Amino acid sequence: MKIAIDGHSSCGKSTLAKQIAKHFGFTYIDTGAMYRTIALFAMRNSMINPDGSPDVNRLQEKIGDISVTFLKDGHAALNCEDVEREIRTLEVSNNVSKIAALKFVREAMVDLQRQMAQNESVVMDGRDIGTVVFPDAELKIFVTADDEVRAKRRYDELTAKGEQVTFDEVLDNLRERDLLDTTREESPLRKADDAILLDNSFMTREEQFEVAKNFVNRTMQELGI
Ligand code: DC
Repeated sequence: MKIAIDGHSSCGKSTLAKQIAKHFGFTYIDTGAMYRTIALFAMRNSMINPDGSPDVNRLQEKIGDISVTFLKDGHAALNCEDVEREIRTLEVSNNVSKIAALKFVREAMVDLQRQMAQNESVVMDGRDIGTVVFPDAELKIFVTADDEVRAKRRYDELTAKGEQVTFDEVLDNLRERDLLDTTREESPLRKADDAILLDNSFMTREEQFEVAKNFVNRTMQELGI
């Protein structure tokens, strides 16, 4: 069984996906972490031009040599190095949308995502899971929330980790990413027609999980699982 969870940046998709995976015994795959890992590779190898655009030719040459995997504890790894902490910084967030908009990057990551789900039941979160990666997913949830609510949650998360950021920086980054993600040519973020919309602006994590648990149980019942 495949569960696709898509939605805007910092809307709690990964929290929800992890809760579902743990409760139902599915494998959780964080596809945003995969794009972040590629962005980190580009940053480390001076593949970001002074104007902030990626050096497309150099990245394309190297994409075949980059290994993106998940370690046993779920941390993202770049060529076997645990980069979980580094890929969550605002600096990576500032660069990732332009990298994730590149066709060859998406093709490589989508291939990998399909391989990862070949032999197991998965909960995958991202932007194009229900529309492109698994259009046949048995359950699709599209998560969203008011952008100031999302920025506040992300700001609290970053400052708790000791990052020196302001609320406005976080809000600007989030709006910029929403814009890039929804207007790009390649697999733009959009709700699949058959996805259930879940707006969690006024929900706690627990309330959101309760709602989603009912969706999963209902789908399993329908499938006779
Ligand atoms: O979910 P996140 O914030 O970690 O995602 C990081 C970036 O990667 C975000 O700008 C959108 C992009 N992304 C994507 O284009 N497709 C996905 N399936 C997942 C993330």
